[in-house]
Amino acid sequence: MKLIFATHNKHKLEEARAIAGACFHIVGLTDLDFHEEIPETADTLQGNALQKARYVFERFHTDCFADDTGLEIAALNGRPGVYSARYAGEHCTYQDNVQKVLREMEGMTQREACFKTVIALILDGQEYLFEGRVDGEIISESKGTSGFGYDPVFRPLSSPLTFAELSEEEKNAISHRGRAMQKLMEFLKSRCQ
Ligand code: IMP
Repeated sequence: MKLIFATHNKHKLEEARAIAGACFHIVGLTDLDFHEEIPETADTLQGNALQKARYVFERFHTDCFADDTGLEIAALNGRPGVYSARYAGEHCTYQDNVQKVLREMEGMTQREACFKTVIALILDGQEYLFEGRVDGEIISESKGTSGFGYDPVFRPLSSPLTFAELSEEEKNAISHRGRAMQKLMEFLKSRCQ
């Protein structure tokens, strides 16, 4: 089954392909030579995931899915949340975002945070949503070099290591997107049988 993953992010594509295994042929937007920035103007993860999936479906008329993720930090009243990608400004880097979070949390003892992912799937013209979540904490300095985004400062509850210190396989097994993706794949596999 061919499915478009509405993303330009090669890390996410690798993660998705690792979880999907041989069952599905997952194609990214760059593979399709589609380089447009997809609008993400909703103020919820669900809204953005649906907006991206609908945009790509209208363009390619092929089954597709899109995801949206937010890091919610309790002591920052849930920020950066749906604004996680551009927390430090319009053209910021992953490192700018991490530095901003660390600055804002300097001296704070309450460090609980969670990642949430929502995946919107359009299959045979119907829309479906899948959610995944992982709880953890924000440590006080970056550790590790794998992954992307806030990985070097997020330590999941079930591990002494940050996401950036885990292998891709270890992260996928417990991560927000890994969990949402597992739900998506279970659903798709049940539809294939
Ligand atoms: P997106 O909407 O899924 O692209 O995610 C928004 C932002 O959240 C990204 O730009 C990253 O900064 C961050 N993010 C998403 N997924 C992860 C992850 O697995 N680890 C760390 N940061 C992530």
